[in-house]
Amino acid sequence: MNVNTRPIEIFDFSVESNDMQKEVLIGLSKSQKSIPPKYLYDEKGSLIFEKICQLPEYYPTRSEHEILKTNAKEMATLIGSDALIIEPGSGSGDKIRHLLKVLKNPKGYIPIEISREILLRMTEELHEEFPDLNTIPVCADFTLDLELPLSVDAYSGKKVVFFPGSTIGNLNPSDAVQLLKKFGKMTGHGGAVLIGVDLKKDHQYFEKAYDDSQGITAAFNLNLLERINRELDASFDLKKFTHQAYYNEVLGRVEMHLVSNIAQLVRVNQTTFRFREGETIHTENSYKYSVEEFCELASKARLEIKKHWQDKKNMFCIYYFEKE
Ligand code: AVJ
Repeated sequence: MNVNTRPIEIFDFSVESNDMQKEVLIGLSKSQKSIPPKYLYDEKGSLIFEKICQLPEYYPTRSEHEILKTNAKEMATLIGSDALIIEPGSGSGDKIRHLLKVLKNPKGYIPIEISREILLRMTEELHEEFPDLNTIPVCADFTLDLELPLSVDAYSGKKVVFFPGSTIGNLNPSDAVQLLKKFGKMTGHGGAVLIGVDLKKDHQYFEKAYDDSQGITAAFNLNLLERINRELDASFDLKKFTHQAYYNEVLGRVEMHLVSNIAQLVRVNQTTFRFREGETIHTENSYKYSVEEFCELASKARLEIKKHWQDKKNMFCIYYFEKE
């Protein structure tokens, strides 16, 4: 059978969960109201996020592509031949393509993605573009405990986790160390982690990138309330909340909030929540690290820095670590 007509087999480790209601109710009951950022990414949220990545003010995506394009060959040399590449949260897979073009005889590529549709589409595209590549798609939420196909665990050659997009910045530093430890367990001794992380820089870049002039990021943030209204039977009036983003200097992170414009009551399912005028729901953090800070963090997960690359304007950084 032709490679391109063979049906795609997806390893399914996804768990049905109705934790959203529980997590939202708990978050809104805290003195600083909050909602976990992963809920920003429903179908509409993911589409708006793609638009964010194309905004002139949102530099991370472009900077990271520049770094990958410029240094893919050197990265491939460090990785070596016959490596198995694992990408948690692969999305449309547009970043791994830079590497797949230059890697020497990769053993396989394992995208891990929570959305089945996105995973299927990208696997089909990769089969077209790289017919010789062994793509093993896994449908799973990599933030939960994560299983991999047995063939992956059993592979004794080099394993590399690719984690671009500064997604690690969503986590607070101690959770970030835990995730890096998980990656280290996946790759095993001698494996590697290739990870893209946003750099600390002048605040004005952050304020523009997270509160763009077209209001796309505002729509992204407010979509969370629309989703909760629809999926949890809630009564948020989107006109009564405003998007806010600012850099928290002390904690080294951009914070996104939704500000209540007035004093109001909002019902979520059976529970009513009181908002004071100006009270906020904290919806996302995006931690920023200097090169030294991030290498220090990674060392706590027993990852040893081998090489890092920045774009011409020093906005973003990709690190290559090896597991001790
Ligand atoms: C996907 C978490 C890396 O923090 O820059 C972009 C998310 N939020 N604009 C980031 C985001 C608002 C993004 N990450």
